[in-house]
Amino acid sequence: MGSLKSEEELEQMEEDASKEAILYVNGSRKVLPDGLAHVTLLEYLRGIGLTGTKLGCGEGGCGACTVMVSHYNKSLSKCSHYAINACLAPLYSVEGMHVITVEGLGNRVHGLHPVQESLARAHGSQCGFCTPGFIMSMYALLRSSESSPSEEKIDECLSGNLCRCTGYRPILDAFHVFAKTDDSLYGPQPSSSSVGESNFVCPSTGKPCSCRSGSLVDSETTRESICCGQKYEAISYSKVDGKLFTDKEFIFPPELLLRKMSYLSLSGFSGLKWYRPLRLKQVLELKSRYPDAKLLVGNTEVGIEMRLKRMHYPVLISTMHVPELNVLNVKDDGVEIGAAVRLSDLLTVFRKVVTERAYHETSTCKAFIEQLKWFAGTQIKNVASVGGNICTASPISDLNPLWMASRAKFRVIDSKGNLRIVSAENFFLGYRKVDLASGEILLSVFLPWSRKLEYVKEFKQAHRRDDDIAIVNAGMRVFLEKKDGDLVVADASIVYGGVAPLSVAARQTKEFLIGKTWNQELLQGALKVLRSDIIIKEDAPGGMVEFRRSLTLSFFFKFFLWVSHEMDGMDGMRSIKEEIPLSQLSAIKPLQRPSVIGCQDYEIVKRGIAVGSPEVHLSSRLQVTGEAEYADDTPLPPNGLNAALVLSRKPHARIISIDASGVKSSPGFAGIFLANDIPGKNKVGPVIYDEEVFASEFVSCVGQAIGIVVADTQENAKLAARKVHVEYEELPAVLSIEDAIKAKSFHPNTEKFLGKGDVDLCFQSGECYKVIQGEVQVGGQEHFYLEPHSTVIWTVDGGNEVHMVSSTQAPQKHQKYVCDVLGLPMSKVVCRTKRIGGGFGGKETRSANLAAAASVPSYLLNRPVKITLDRDIDMMTTGQRHSFLGKYKVGFTKEGKVLALDLEIYNNAGNSLDLSLSILERAMFHSDNVYEIPNIRINGAVCFTNFPSNTAFRGFGGPQGMLIAENWIQRIAVELKKSPEEIREMNFQGEGSLLHYGHQLQHCTLDQLWNALKGSCNFLNARKEADQFNLQNRWKKRGVAMVPTKFGISFTTKLLNQAGALVHVYTDGTVLVTHGGVEMGQGLHTKVAQVAASSFNIPLSSVFISDTSTDKVPNASPTAASASSDMYGAAVLDACEQIKARMEPIASQKNFSSFAELARACYAERIDLSAHGFHIVPEIGFDWKMGKGNPFRYFTYGGAYAEVELDTLTGDFHTTAANVFLDLGYSINPAIDVGQIEGAFVQGLGWVALEELKWGDAAHKWIPPGCLYTCGPGSYKIPSVNDVPLKFSVSLLKGHPNVKAIHSSKAVGEPPFFLASSVFFAIKDAIIAARADAGFTDWFPLDNPATPERIRMACLDEFTAPFIGSNFRPKLSV
Ligand SMILES: Cc1cc2nc3c(=O)[nH]c(=O)nc-3n(C[C@H](O)[C@H](O)[C@H](O)COP(=O)(O)OP(=O)(O)OC[C@H]3O[C@@H](n4cnc5c(N)ncnc54)[C@H](O)[C@@H]3O)c2cc1C
Ligand code: FES
Ligand code: FES
Repeated sequence: MGSLKSEEELEQMEEDASKEAILYVNGSRKVLPDGLAHVTLLEYLRGIGLTGTKLGCGEGGCGACTVMVSHYNKSLSKCSHYAINACLAPLYSVEGMHVITVEGLGNRVHGLHPVQESLARAHGSQCGFCTPGFIMSMYALLRSSESSPSEEKIDECLSGNLCRCTGYRPILDAFHVFAKTDDSLYGPQPSSSSVGESNFVCPSTGKPCSCRSGSLVDSETTRESICCGQKYEAISYSKVDGKLFTDKEFIFPPELLLRKMSYLSLSGFSGLKWYRPLRLKQVLELKSRYPDAKLLVGNTEVGIEMRLKRMHYPVLISTMHVPELNVLNVKDDGVEIGAAVRLSDLLTVFRKVVTERAYHETSTCKAFIEQLKWFAGTQIKNVASVGGNICTASPISDLNPLWMASRAKFRVIDSKGNLRIVSAENFFLGYRKVDLASGEILLSVFLPWSRKLEYVKEFKQAHRRDDDIAIVNAGMRVFLEKKDGDLVVADASIVYGGVAPLSVAARQTKEFLIGKTWNQELLQGALKVLRSDIIIKEDAPGGMVEFRRSLTLSFFFKFFLWVSHEMDGMDGMRSIKEEIPLSQLSAIKPLQRPSVIGCQDYEIVKRGIAVGSPEVHLSSRLQVTGEAEYADDTPLPPNGLNAALVLSRKPHARIISIDASGVKSSPGFAGIFLANDIPGKNKVGPVIYDEEVFASEFVSCVGQAIGIVVADTQENAKLAARKVHVEYEELPAVLSIEDAIKAKSFHPNTEKFLGKGDVDLCFQSGECYKVIQGEVQVGGQEHFYLEPHSTVIWTVDGGNEVHMVSSTQAPQKHQKYVCDVLGLPMSKVVCRTKRIGGGFGGKETRSANLAAAASVPSYLLNRPVKITLDRDIDMMTTGQRHSFLGKYKVGFTKEGKVLALDLEIYNNAGNSLDLSLSILERAMFHSDNVYEIPNIRINGAVCFTNFPSNTAFRGFGGPQGMLIAENWIQRIAVELKKSPEEIREMNFQGEGSLLHYGHQLQHCTLDQLWNALKGSCNFLNARKEADQFNLQNRWKKRGVAMVPTKFGISFTTKLLNQAGALVHVYTDGTVLVTHGGVEMGQGLHTKVAQVAASSFNIPLSSVFISDTSTDKVPNASPTAASASSDMYGAAVLDACEQIKARMEPIASQKNFSSFAELARACYAERIDLSAHGFHIVPEIGFDWKMGKGNPFRYFTYGGAYAEVELDTLTGDFHTTAANVFLDLGYSINPAIDVGQIEGAFVQGLGWVALEELKWGDAAHKWIPPGCLYTCGPGSYKIPSVNDVPLKFSVSLLKGHPNVKAIHSSKAVGEPPFFLASSVFFAIKDAIIAARADAGFTDWFPLDNPATPERIRMACLDEFTAPFIGSNFRPKLSV
């Protein structure tokens, strides 16, 4: 410690450094060895077997890795508990703390913790991969709350957790139970007879209500209606706040209470040095020794830079515990904030200050509070620091514009202890460059109180409200003084983020404002100056130039109105508000966002003991405890290796050479394998073999596998893979559907035709009142299953057999691909899948390529190999939902009856065919949605492009086909000045309708559904209310829409419509079922078990479904097409019936006291108690040559109503209500079906309004060609808790059994997805109202997704006018 002044201190540091580093995990003491500075807490936890904590993204964006840390603050004598993302926390950052993981709560053996119990019972866990993260966020909130938290707080604490399955409603319901204040209402529930309606607490909402329903009666077929939630016992808050449960909760380890925190000097991989000083002096000393050392607090920036951007920082200094950097002093003139202060602490102090100080003094604090509300998720705010945000100097930092605007001063200190003060306005010098010399650090920030007549306001517009970085943000301040009865600007500061490489002040605007009277004239003048003050270059990184420029004006306009509103009524001043029409004030009216209210309405029609009952997902109790195992949780067998892929960096190129010389000396390296190492065939594919496992001569997309590297650890494998040098000769690439059409770049034999009537004759006949033409672009969508692709593969018997555990929807495909690649017979290769953390189609085929690649090193080295994709690699390489282009020509009558449709439809398949032809075909089948079209001609083609192969995704092309149809329906309505709903109804198909592919509709329930939906939302009234609202509000608009759907059930490839099952009855009366379907959260195993339980008339708990395995049920089709419950349910029923038939002679001899007794009696009589069941879907088949047939067994019908409210100035929107109606016949499990509907709807909402894939193409020149920019949760935004419809009602049509499927049920997985387009059309409806105010009444295209950019730019007004014309169309990768 050479230059340290005090010898004493030096000795102390040395003594401290010799102490062992420790950590408590779930009450158990762990000594942390040296050498792990590069390891994250998540890697450590999973490494010691605590696999309940999941890796979903590794970048702080999904919350799957959430754990709680407890830390004792000696100076405050207080223990704090908070949730953090273990994936970003360096292991040593939690030294001396107590980490509680999901395993530290309850478990299957010892019982569930109330938070776990509540989530399981409320159907809040489907695939379960996100579940431990949600549990830990909620648990941390409860542990840190002194009284029961409010619903708002609960919603807020979940902002950093993503779920792709549930649609969040059941999670919110489960957790809102803990927001109650009256414990007496929540104790164990009294028997139903003693409970009056009035004091019943609805377990669904956690609030007293009158929805209690009677108890169920088990009989052959019983029916009962359930509204508003299911039955589960609510949990008392006192059970979780630690008072009653202290014996069950982990206490803070006494050793950590007594222990003195010590200076740490540790090391990591590749010479990495890690220091944890405890004094400022020590920090400065280290800084003088290592001037370029990185200071570290939350690691939320450095962690990303090191992992994702591969930046190398050899010395890290954690300043988390340095008291001088953690000051938070409220002074007379302002607040002093230490650079290491965590954002959550800053928020707490600001919230306190605004209640204690004069209103005018805290204008800045209020602006920070509001801005921090939308800053990252809770877990990030719990660790991220003020100084970390400032010193990163990100151009989109949410706080830096505010520091700059609010006259903050930064105190900077150098390694010699010299202090200087820099104003925030002058601190930022360039892209991620600040005014800190080498050896200097930021010590603290001083934020002055705002003065009388000084107003500070924050602004932010992101893709998604919760946990997203800004597209544009701003901090604005104006200081006014009174002059001659007017208010004149004495000082001002207008600062923007997201418009330049750094946060920038609009200096000319400031100059313009100073000295001007605060009135309309000032506004108009300032807007004019701003236009030239803030310029964004055409090719600026991030794109959306016009949107960003419009936002700069919109924000200022809002600021002007807000200030005018704030100062209204000032003594003796003319009211500026009077100059502003009331309707204009809508620009600053915030939407009151109450907590989500969910309502579920269905009838229970029981068939036997279990079928029809709203049973909880059978794995939910394992999922909420983190005990449920996924592929990546499978321990790597002894001698195992980890693998990483060598990936193409060019969209289209010839491989000139592959230089692997640098790889061999890489640490832990064990082998590299390329195309010519493959023992069997290199060509694979689900339909035709048109893609290579490893590219041999050419690459045809970025992210294509060229080879695979194996090493001892995952990090070493990735490091080695990066060292492979590939030389390319670049070739022209096709990077959009339009390019493909121009170049006639289609996959061979994929041009398809369907037709009915005579379209040309109709157009020429003069029958049509109008014929319109248009184009619909439909964007793609990433699956974003929370569990990335993963496979563990190993050889058995010296390589004679190969076994694998894979995260796949199609184990059989894994088996087949691996056999082909290794040249083995299928009988020697086994693939098992217990469950997967979501698939949605993304693991139907693409996962098999990964297994095939991993099989090569495993087989050739005769060693186990594991490969789990990082989130960015997963997104970049494994394909998405297809983007589509539809070119339509529609003729219709004066009333709106459709007479003819001529449609060209194209999908973007990427570089291999995969399932793209079937997806195109389904889109063609669904291009009529529910409409009677007498003359129709559809031509389709599958485009070859140089992108990774696109693949199946919930709906499989159906939603794209239907969305194109709804676009032209909506256009007809505009042309005829009618409502789209009227046009829809007028053209409905009905019983007996003959579809354009020869299929005749039977049992069509469209009318019943539509009428029920219309009644439920009182559509006419809703329409009127929206119109009224729109008249009164210039800058907020409401829109409403109702959209129907008809979804065909069956694989359109006939041979896939077969299913096998294996049922064993054991002598203890339990039943083991195995079938070919995979459990991916959709509740397939639960429904199938219900079928078996009802068949044998045994409790559901007696039926067990283990994993899906190719050696138990052969040749299974992928779990897809929504048809698995129908098919596997029927196959299992077949097996059960066979066994029952064999048991019958014994059963009829006497009354057995139990099924176990009967089973034993049968066993004694040597009766085979095992059966293989089989099912084929009857009466289907389609002949593409004729273009006629019955591709579907039946249709699932549905309808949805949505209501939205837009902020037309920013493009922000809320779905204020959604009602969804589905006809699911007699549901096998209505609770699971409701979960599927809600999940599909919210996923669909992401598709239509949030999720945008940005590829390096002609539309996005700032992205390297063929590369995916949106390759993680940081840049790709799936819906979060905040996006759930505020009133979310789901109803199942009652009284319509389906005669075509098992137990009269209907398939549910895919059909509701499209119904989210009601949100899209409600948005469009609201935009129409906004445009009308600006005098634009013509039809306009709106591409999906309707992101804030598209919404805002379609709402033409004076703020967009300087930048765009009326036909502007934001760019979209299609
Ligand atoms: C999922 C996610 C969401 C995010 N959302 C947002 C958001 O909504 N808005 C937003 O603005 N940002 C966001 N960020 C960025 C980031 O969280 C913030 O910038 C955060 O405040 C950084 O703080 P930290 O303590 O984690 O920084 P660290 O990563 O620990 O450090 C960041 C940098 O600051 C330097 N540094 C730290 N302290 C000092 C000091 N005292 N003197 C000199 N240099 C210092 C470090 O050396 C390093 O270069 C997000 C990040 C993630 C991962
Ligand atoms: S894995 Fe940590 S936030 Fe996603
Ligand atoms: S249950 Fe949430 S991601 Fe699957």
